[in-house]
Amino acid sequence: LLPTHTSTGSVLRSALPLPPPFQVPLRVPRVLAPVAPDRYELIAREAEAEILPGVRTPIWGYDGTFPGPTIELRRGRTTTVHHRNDLPVPTVVHLHGGRTPPESDGYPTDLVLPTRGWSGGHSRHDPAARIAHSSRDYVFPLDQRAALLWYHDHRMDFTGPAVYRGLAGFAVVRDDEEDALPLPRGDREIPLLITDRAFAADGSFAYPSLDPSLTRVPGVTEPYTGGVLGDVILVNGAPWPVHEVSATRHRLRLLNASNARRYELSLDPPPPDGPAFVQIGSDGGLLERPVAHGSLVLAPAERLDAVVDFGRYPVGTEVTLVNRLGTGTTGHVMRFRVARRDRDDTAIPPRLSEVERLDRAQATVTRDFAFRSGLLGDRHGWLISGRAFDAGHAVARPRLGDVEIWRFVTDLHHPIHLHLVHFQVLARGGREPGPYDGGLKDTVDLGPGEAVEVITRFDGYRGRYVFHCHNAEHEDMGMMATFDVV
Ligand code: C2O
Ligand code: CU
Repeated sequence: LLPTHTSTGSVLRSALPLPPPFQVPLRVPRVLAPVAPDRYELIAREAEAEILPGVRTPIWGYDGTFPGPTIELRRGRTTTVHHRNDLPVPTVVHLHGGRTPPESDGYPTDLVLPTRGWSGGHSRHDPAARIAHSSRDYVFPLDQRAALLWYHDHRMDFTGPAVYRGLAGFAVVRDDEEDALPLPRGDREIPLLITDRAFAADGSFAYPSLDPSLTRVPGVTEPYTGGVLGDVILVNGAPWPVHEVSATRHRLRLLNASNARRYELSLDPPPPDGPAFVQIGSDGGLLERPVAHGSLVLAPAERLDAVVDFGRYPVGTEVTLVNRLGTGTTGHVMRFRVARRDRDDTAIPPRLSEVERLDRAQATVTRDFAFRSGLLGDRHGWLISGRAFDAGHAVARPRLGDVEIWRFVTDLHHPIHLHLVHFQVLARGGREPGPYDGGLKDTVDLGPGEAVEVITRFDGYRGRYVFHCHNAEHEDMGMMATFDVV
């Protein structure tokens, strides 16, 4: 009875002529300026962006930009983000990777209704929802390590289309520990938000349907069901950009902000000696020790911090960042042009940070969750242990401070994200964790038929959170569940 589904959906084709790659310069999103010490204002609104040269694309943007401005956070300080919703639809802002109190986590039914009113109702009733009218404060008393986080829309049933239209940006947590290391900084620290889009003939982002309920009818589900993929790779909102670098070490801070696309990134040409990348961090901040990789695999919502030494290339070399999983695209992501020699006063210390290792013996509970496709009535859905998202039903109630092991099994590719906590991967497919599983993670990618065990301590706050598949369309089609920290 179930329609057959690919794990990655089909790729939407742009209906516009696309520019040749490596013409548009890379932009780095601007840093959001505070309106008062530790206080920011973030307005979501409709705007137009010139993403393809000469083409106007309507977007939904934080501050009217895509990606949104970068929010800088400091460990040990409380940051308040005042969010105003000037969009025509309700929004929710989630700080992905943030250890935030439940009321500021962006629970999917905690809507901020549009400034100009809303008569659309709420797709599923949740008596515990905290509904705000036109604006609200998100308060982040951040006590967490330096890390690359991001913020994005998280409205129930509508995250996929809202993020696709542009509601995403970086949030960077800094701390003294990281500041003391001789890592590349300033313009040698490059945040790269990688995402894919397709363009309709009028220049707008092509998306199968803005009404997810339509996509639940069997037979008209593709290309929505597997997740929405486009044929243009954008880096910081620019198609296949080019960026000049000096022949020194650079820290690439990679975020896969795509709805459904996975990447395996490599450098072409590869450096003459040794692996292309030295990974120094992951979702939850710095690793204990650097790890060398020839390529980097990133599932939706994952982050990876990697140092590339462009000093290994002769000046004048054009180095292309290539996606080896580039189905339906050119495979190009962006290009670096090694422009000049320069003094390099950076280094990668052999020991980066301290990460408390959690041990199996510390766990009080092991919980099992299956991420699989299933039927919701006569419709297709993506379910966790046979259930679609239900705000009124907590599938787990970890006690504050307890260590737990969560075991995930899947049918297809699903990147699984837990709010509130960072976890460590204990095992993948019954064996050792994989090459990208090191450090503290908040999102872990599972391959088809794979099982992964993670361990975490629920030491943040009491309250209601979610975990879900970060394929945004899977999430919208039900693959999300509530847990209560009690
Ligand atoms: Cu990136 Cu529940 O989110
Ligand atoms: Cu999924």
